[in-house]
Amino acid sequence: MTRTVIRGGLVITATEEVAADVLVLDERIAALGTPEVAEGWLPDADVVLDATGRYVIPGGVDGHTHMEMPFGGTFSSDTFETGTRAAAWGGTTTIIDFAIQSIGRSAREGLDTWHAKAEGRCAVDYGFHLILSDVRTDSLAELDGLVDEGVTSFKLFMAYPGVFYSDDGQVLRAMQSAAGNGALTMLHAENGIAIDVLVRQALAEGRTDPRHHGAVRHPLLEAEATHRAIQLARVAGAPLYVVHVSAAEALDEITAARDSGLDVFGETCPQYLFLTVDELARPGFEGAKFVCSTPLRPEQHRERLWRGLRTGDLSVVATDHCPFCFASQKELGRGDFSKIPNGMPGVEHRLDLLHQGVVEGRISRRRWVELASTTPARMFGLHPRKGALTPGSDADVVLYDPVATQVISAATHHMNVDYSAYEGREITGRVRTVLSRGEVILDEDRYLGRPGRGRFLPRDTCQYLT
Ligand code: URP
Ligand code: ZN
Ligand code: ZN
Repeated sequence: MTRTVIRGGLVITATEEVAADVLVLDERIAALGTPEVAEGWLPDADVVLDATGRYVIPGGVDGHTHMEMPFGGTFSSDTFETGTRAAAWGGTTTIIDFAIQSIGRSAREGLDTWHAKAEGRCAVDYGFHLILSDVRTDSLAELDGLVDEGVTSFKLFMAYPGVFYSDDGQVLRAMQSAAGNGALTMLHAENGIAIDVLVRQALAEGRTDPRHHGAVRHPLLEAEATHRAIQLARVAGAPLYVVHVSAAEALDEITAARDSGLDVFGETCPQYLFLTVDELARPGFEGAKFVCSTPLRPEQHRERLWRGLRTGDLSVVATDHCPFCFASQKELGRGDFSKIPNGMPGVEHRLDLLHQGVVEGRISRRRWVELASTTPARMFGLHPRKGALTPGSDADVVLYDPVATQVISAATHHMNVDYSAYEGREITGRVRTVLSRGEVILDEDRYLGRPGRGRFLPRDTCQYLT
């Protein structure tokens, strides 16, 4: 048995902050104790980690990543190997990625394909949601079985007609199935049919630059789809999780639904908290680096999203990590913004960026942990194994230096992508040491992890439902 003692840190969870030492036995948290109690652990300790001046927090849970995702005629550039290594560098010890059911294929086949991509390659633990691209009677019939296997959430798209799009009837049918088997329906809420009209009009008028990506994906088309998704969920009697919320008007819909007592949850991402639509208008083709959907929005939306995180109207910060190299992949959309592969890199910097919210006094330290770790763990049925530092929890632990500074750059990041959306941004705070199930995989800037040590996590159903 390996005994690890983490000494002298400030343990911060979603509910408390306490100066405590942590005893880890093999893969699990065994105890939290005062320094006096911890003295008794030391003689038998195999590993002692000094956490003086550091926060000791549960490892991050990123509930929204896309490794090796086929999209826009190419694949997102991080594999499960490179993407989970970058996650580990950034203090994220669990990712939940999206397996994809292809059109005309079974859900089973999609899930098996993603298992094959991930198995033996991940540095940290991982689970899967399933993207339902083809809602049919037979594919719906498969879902109960997938829930039993621990794939307890399904994503549908109201955007991207002809690719991942589901119409309202298909969305409703999938939600009815979720109401029966306890799954959580995740919705990409944008009115894709209306957006495609605006895309065609823009291109016909010669508006082909990346900045038009933001213009055609109007905030009201996000709000309208969010409203529709909420009503469909009500009709089905199913809970709803709205992914990558970026428009204030969409947040208003979620807030109203929550105020009326519905099980509706909102997720946002660091790009919407830190970047604005102005990035899309960078000179030349550089705006392509910032093409993602939902799109970046004007400044006032950013402020509203921060407020939503504070008030609890937004529940989770995930990354929607979906990197495409600028030089080789974003290039596919030069001269036609609609062909730029949608997505941005981010899995490595979620904890650090969200920590700026603490530094700037926007959220508390406990809320930081809650948004980045505990709530996603509960939302996706992994708590208290993940997202907690209680006896019996997996020893996924981050030692975080809250005063160290760093500058984000593609030259130093670990994601397999040739640019950073935050190039040159100075960050206060830095991940120093990371344990994944008791094993030190990052130690003071030395990476000690390896592909294949991350395990698949069968998940329970959402732990927030009334
Ligand atoms: O632009 C994005 N978000 N790309 C990834 C796919 C999705 O819609 O989540
Ligand atoms: Zn999406
Ligand atoms: Zn996504």
